[in-house]
Amino acid sequence: MSYRIFILALWIRVWHWINALLILCLIISGLSLHYAQPGAGIIKFSLAREMHNIAGIGLCLNYVYFFIGNIVSGNWWQYIPRPHGYMKRCWVQFRYYMYDIFRGAPHPFPTTVDDNFNPLQQLIYWGVMYVLMPLLILTGVTYLYPTLAPDRWFGVDGLLPVAFVHFFVAFLIFLFMLVHVYLGTTGDHLTSKISTMITGWHEEGLEELESTEQDDRIAAGAGAGANAVDAPES
Ligand code: HEM
Repeated sequence: MSYRIFILALWIRVWHWINALLILCLIISGLSLHYAQPGAGIIKFSLAREMHNIAGIGLCLNYVYFFIGNIVSGNWWQYIPRPHGYMKRCWVQFRYYMYDIFRGAPHPFPTTVDDNFNPLQQLIYWGVMYVLMPLLILTGVTYLYPTLAPDRWFGVDGLLPVAFVHFFVAFLIFLFMLVHVYLGTTGDHLTSKISTMITGWHEEGLEELESTEQDDRIAAGAGAGANAVDAPES
């Protein structure tokens, strides 16, 4: 037996796949700009520069769309960890990723309409979307309009700290993406999470809802199980 719920509105799916595509373009062109010696880049320098600028502007616009969409739809709430018992829930999820997943244990925090994310996803998605992405965008825009940077900062050229933060944050987002894509394959089936991200519908075995850890979650006030029914598409 399984349950099926509609959890992802069209606007967020559209945002997500545009975002993924733009980040991929930025990584490829960014690496080519970073390794700019003749013959070292993945693509030609002039093309990489053009591609990075266009994808960067696209990413800014798409982020504004994400930010407004989250406020208007109330989806921002998904990203806020519920404080009661949070550390314990993080530990349960961490143990699942490190150990329980390899012995086929059910997901400790099954997806519901009210709680799309497990406790670690909440923390990581919040950090990526509300700390790293704004930093990436702000430093990227400063790179595009260098006059925005101060002439000197901490005794060095003002653009140097901007370049360092931009590169470091891009690297963290790249690492996030590697882990994120791997975890995207850890649903009921290899492709079930990807297909949720495409269709908006989430399907899971009912045994997940009956797992022991689920009792902890209900005790922590998450109210899981209330949505274990087909919900109409909105
Ligand atoms: C090819 C690259 C990518 C793939 C295959 C992918 C896959 C997925 C999947 C399967 C989910 C839903 C399942 C889950 O969260 O457990 C998801 C959600 C999400 N992804 Fe990605 N992703 C990619 C790139 C990215 C990038 C680059 C970012 C941000 C920098 C990102 C941010 C997010 C966020 C914030 C969510 C949650 C959206 C929401 O429900 O509000 N993803 N992704």
